[in-house]
Amino acid sequence: MKGPYFSEPLLAIETSCDETSAALLEGSTVIRNVVMSQVEMHNKWGGIVPEAAARAHVEAILPVLIEALGNKEIGAIAVTNRPGLVGALSVGVTAAKALSLVREIPIIGVHHLEGHIWSLLTNSGKSHPCLENPHLSLIVSGGHTELVHVFEPGKYRILGETLDDAAGEAFDKAARLLGLGYPGGKAIEELAQNGDPHRYKLPRGLARDPLNFSFSGLKTAVLRLVESEGESLCKEDAAASLQEAIVDALAKKVEFALQNFGRKYLSLVGGVAANRSLRERLSFVAHRNGTEFLTPDFEFCTDNAAMIGLAGSLRLAKGEYSGFELESMPNSPLPGLID
Ligand code: KG4
Ligand code: ZN
Repeated sequence: MKGPYFSEPLLAIETSCDETSAALLEGSTVIRNVVMSQVEMHNKWGGIVPEAAARAHVEAILPVLIEALGNKEIGAIAVTNRPGLVGALSVGVTAAKALSLVREIPIIGVHHLEGHIWSLLTNSGKSHPCLENPHLSLIVSGGHTELVHVFEPGKYRILGETLDDAAGEAFDKAARLLGLGYPGGKAIEELAQNGDPHRYKLPRGLARDPLNFSFSGLKTAVLRLVESEGESLCKEDAAASLQEAIVDALAKKVEFALQNFGRKYLSLVGGVAANRSLRERLSFVAHRNGTEFLTPDFEFCTDNAAMIGLAGSLRLAKGEYSGFELESMPNSPLPGLID
């Protein structure tokens, strides 16, 4: 096998949380990326119910797989096996094992965050500067907020992370307090467009720690704001102030990391990377430091199987694969961590 990517067509599966997704890839080219979202169902309960999520994956997995595969011959399967909701992960992992058995092709288990990191490669062509050069990656999702120094596929150093809530969780919890439903990030962003980001003072969290994050104070501050303002609360201004607090906290630490750990490339990935205000601010911060800013198209920010395919493809091309003992794990550190 030559080159950084697996040489044959590859099927990828992602079911770690509330999206059932399957993708077909050839090298770094995403042929199809099918995503069936459960958000409407979880919206009714105001958040994810793990048992309901697993059952919804069971219903969705076959139609999603059939749509992604078509009648294509594939050479391997990449599947998210960690971290995530175990019941949800098991649906994807079991489907991958069954298909691998029937077609007699290898599978590779992929760490969800490694998928987000390499979502950067979607439709990038064969050579991507971040495959040859170290870069800084900010991973911001509903479950994680990690600032990672990426040296090469499979070699990472965590520079900073959240000590409590993730950035996406902060958007989601505040959205619930503002009566905006689940998930909250997109709803907050839309409302914030007509709001004043400086109207309400909200905490930035861990201001004196240059690299770690804390977002749990924001939820409490928004709760106090809702209670103290009552009917007079301007939801647009509250949404804009919340978004500004999150973007500001992230941007400050990213800039410190750029100045201290490498300035060549910065990537922004994960569901919260779909936020335009965050994309604009980090792009500005990057350019101010002579850094190239990279972020995937919106479609590849929130959970999708294409990114799992890319991360899996890089590992398969190195000759790695998993056996049928592949397990679904709720918690697991990013693989290939160095101190
Ligand atoms: O990566 P992802 O799809 O799932 C996890 O791995 O958690 O991220 C989902 C998170 C949710 O918290 C959601 O509110 C947030 O991404 N999100 C956004 C936006 N779109 C999704 N947050 C802010 N602005 C957005 N436009
Ligand atoms: Zn994710």
